[in-house]
Amino acid sequence: MAASTDTETFLASPQLRAREGDLFNIDAALTEGLDAVVAVHFGGVAVDRRVHKLCADAGVPLIEDAAHALGTSDERGLVGGHGTHAACFSFYATKNLTSGEGGAIATDDAGLAAFARSHRLHGMSADAHARYKPGGGTHYDMVSPGIKANLPDLLAALARSQLGRFPQMQARRRTLLRAYRAALEPAGLTFVPRVEDPGSADHLAVVVLPEGVDRIRVIAAFGAAAIGTSVHFRPLHRFTWFAANAPVGPTGTRVADELADRAISLPLHPALRDVDVDRVVEVLAESLT
Ligand SMILES: Cc1ncc(COP(=O)(O)O)c(C=O)c1O
Repeated sequence: MAASTDTETFLASPQLRAREGDLFNIDAALTEGLDAVVAVHFGGVAVDRRVHKLCADAGVPLIEDAAHALGTSDERGLVGGHGTHAACFSFYATKNLTSGEGGAIATDDAGLAAFARSHRLHGMSADAHARYKPGGGTHYDMVSPGIKANLPDLLAALARSQLGRFPQMQARRRTLLRAYRAALEPAGLTFVPRVEDPGSADHLAVVVLPEGVDRIRVIAAFGAAAIGTSVHFRPLHRFTWFAANAPVGPTGTRVADELADRAISLPLHPALRDVDVDRVVEVLAESLT
């Protein structure tokens, strides 16, 4: 396999899927005896299935970072931890379905599910529902030194209230993303993924600015127009702790580094109006002239 890849070629690949060269780092790391691989369904686009195969072949557990992936589907169907160690969803305020804070773990592993259920509640063997319901009894055990990480019931209710309209919310995201693409692709701008991915949960609208464009200036132009933008993501190894504790291996992360300097995430949420998209497009176009 090739050890490096070229950003423009990568961007030109049909769905910005990992190609041989991009899998090289994982492949190399797997031979070093990893405890697990955590793969991100970035922006709601499912992780390349070859990552699953590499991990399975190496006997290394694959944990799906499904923070962006509620509603994402791949060859398995809806992402939900099938055939992997687990899929971890986030319901943080920015996510497609939100409880403000919190998330969910989906797994086929009954032992892991039992551990998670207890561990999130200080290691208790029964939650308040089980203990206080009629006939529930008052006994519970502390089976391990757990943590407090349960999704509070009130927040869970908030998330559940969105489930009924989730398909409509997702459909609106797809419509908005298509509108962004229709307006910006003819002007030469590229999206991540390069072409629409039918299985994507459409969590982000990531545009890759042309080479040489000053991204700080573009973000400032949006700011001046009272439009919020974001960058997904700054590579982990550029953060202080990771730089010190998890340095990048010899094969580097050139694609991630280059994309990270040119990517900008446009506003994307179901309440966005068509005129809002027009305005975002207008501001972006002006900032590029
Ligand atoms: C890719 C990804 N993974 C994990 C997380 C963390 O989710 P949470 O804040 O619910 O722990 C986020 C949150 O923004 C994310 O975007």
